Amino acid sequence: MTVGRSSGISITQPYVGLRAFNAEDRDRFFGRTQESHQVAALWRSNKLTVLYGASGVGKTSLLQAGVLPTLDPESTDVLPIGRVSAGDLSANSTTSDTAVLTLLSSLAPERSPDELAGLSILRFLNQRGTQRDRYGDPLPILLAIDQAEELFSEFSYRPEITKRFITGLARALRQIRETRLLLTVREDRLPSVLPHERILAGRSHVRLRLAPFGPAAAMEAVQRPLRGTGRKFERGVARELVQDLRTVTVTNARGEATSLHIETVDPVQVQVVCSALWESLPNAAHVITSAHVRRYGDIERFLASFCSRALSSVAREHDMPVARLRSWLQQTFITELGTRGTAYEGLGQTAGMPNAVVRSLEDQHLIKAEHRWGTRWYELQHDRLIEPLQHAHPVELLETAELELAEGALALAERHAEQAIRTCGIDDLVVRAGAERVLGQVSRMRSDPQRALLRFRTAARLFEVIEDKSAVAQLLAEAGRLSTIGGHYAQAVSDLRAAAERAPGDAPILYSLGHALWCGGQPLAAVAVLGGILEIESGFKQAIRLRGEILADLGKAERALADLDRARHGQQPSTLAARALAHAMTGRMEAADQEAADAAANGTDDGPALFRVARVRQLADEPQRAAEFAVAALAATATPLPPHLREAAARMLADLA
Ligand SMILES: Nc1ncnc2c1ncn2[C@@H]1O[C@H](COP(=O)(O)OP(=O)(O)OP(=O)(O)O)[C@@H](O)[C@H]1O
Ligand SMILES: [Mg+2]
Repeated sequence: MTVGRSSGISITQPYVGLRAFNAEDRDRFFGRTQESHQVAALWRSNKLTVLYGASGVGKTSLLQAGVLPTLDPESTDVLPIGRVSAGDLSANSTTSDTAVLTLLSSLAPERSPDELAGLSILRFLNQRGTQRDRYGDPLPILLAIDQAEELFSEFSYRPEITKRFITGLARALRQIRETRLLLTVREDRLPSVLPHERILAGRSHVRLRLAPFGPAAAMEAVQRPLRGTGRKFERGVARELVQDLRTVTVTNARGEATSLHIETVDPVQVQVVCSALWESLPNAAHVITSAHVRRYGDIERFLASFCSRALSSVAREHDMPVARLRSWLQQTFITELGTRGTAYEGLGQTAGMPNAVVRSLEDQHLIKAEHRWGTRWYELQHDRLIEPLQHAHPVELLETAELELAEGALALAERHAEQAIRTCGIDDLVVRAGAERVLGQVSRMRSDPQRALLRFRTAARLFEVIEDKSAVAQLLAEAGRLSTIGGHYAQAVSDLRAAAERAPGDAPILYSLGHALWCGGQPLAAVAVLGGILEIESGFKQAIRLRGEILADLGKAERALADLDRARHGQQPSTLAARALAHAMTGRMEAADQEAADAAANGTDDGPALFRVARVRQLADEPQRAAEFAVAALAATATPLPPHLREAAARMLADLA
């Protein structure tokens, strides 16, 4: 054990955390002395002992760190703990032989599956032979199957398979008289085990329920691991902690919470709270005080933060979004019924996740692995993690929503952003602001500008309060662009000016401002703003092009051509038409005709392009065609004419009439 040099405090966690105790943990296993002896005695003296209890009550721990160490190897022949996992049986191999092979490979981990294949339980035990004590009497053979409920799971085994397995097991128990079987079973599955008791063991069977800790055992489990660490609880504080653990908060369907006092303490809660408490202590703290404890009184909250911390550490390590890890855990390890599921480790990946990441999740005790059948199988460390894994922290919900938005999954992004708003505290402005922004973008992408505008404005106000200027600027710019599209140019200009003030020199924002000014009938102001951009970023093509188009409209042909020549590549119809107009104004009619024809062919629903073509035709002295293009320009809907150009088009039609 590592010992801190200056403080004399052990820096190694004395609490095992969210995993089951194993044989090496026997020296820090407390609170189960009586149960350990009781189970050992029943196991030795009955053909079948069924130890049952709730998930996480400590059955596996009791077996490994409590019962096994109390058994005397001189007077018992104990096999390694057996497992029969439903998870091992892939869809096309559900035979009782597979179930037997799973069991045998856990009982004899040193033997290869090939060696064990085809053996019955009876043959296997016969091969091992019987051990005898010094008087020549055969030793009882103690065989245990932990988590035996997996054998009786109605979802994975067909009843006839269970039956065949049981028959084979019963034959072995009958024929090798020294065999004693211990099954541990989750309480909720007990009824499916009961019909098999008689078949397995005749009358020689007992059942024992493992209860959660009573207050005294809980005190032991909390206090005793600290011995030898240099730390202890202040007087009365361990009791206070246990008292806290005996208080549970129940939330009903309407979301109303009530506190209840119960007699018992769940061992898993002891681990969660005590290991968190230990980690939260300042290095030099020798005495654990009431203040230390109160910070960790809330178990649900701690479990949630345990999951979040573990996830974000793995996410950082592998440069992967937390949200992706969480959703992988949900999809892989939580069944539709809200129970624990399993996955096996493939060559490079486990259920689509790189194995290196999976191993890190295991190191963080979010999932646990088992070797069965030469394969590594994973499941969640504990059922208590199902709940917190399903309810992500608001920050994470927001991250998920942002990710989904980027992937174009609008409905999901919306749901998670709304969830983030619902679950974050009223004063968590960072999450609120971000979620409003996501919702705004969702509305915008769904072509609902009204709602998008409301969201963007709300988000901008929130970011203003938390003084995130650049976020405010971007949001106001988004709002401004939406107003431009909606034809509310004055509003657009005011939003975009406010945005530009908060993000000086941001070229895309200034471009949008220039565009809004032009649409709003202020072409000269637009030209000035666009010129400003080009002083900062001389190669900003969009700005060059728009300035050239506006200059052409204004009749400044040479300056327009200078810009339009620079922005030659990837030209839109409006730009081509502007060049045609500038050429026509300087008498280069051939070039003008060519480009006007191209613009008209490609810009059949582009108002500004069509109006510029109309002006080219007018300059070419073709009033009839000019009028036709002016009419088409006024009717364009994809890119409608801005109001000042509509007026100009209407004037042209009046002049031509
Ligand atoms: N005596 C104990 N003292 C402190 N913590 C305990 C004790 N027994 C069990 N725990 C803790 O409780 C949690 C659940 O234990 P364990 O996995 O043994 O339960 P289980 O009943 O086998 O659960 P499952 O039904 O999931 O198999 C673990 O975090 C373990 O460390
Ligand atoms: Mg267990």
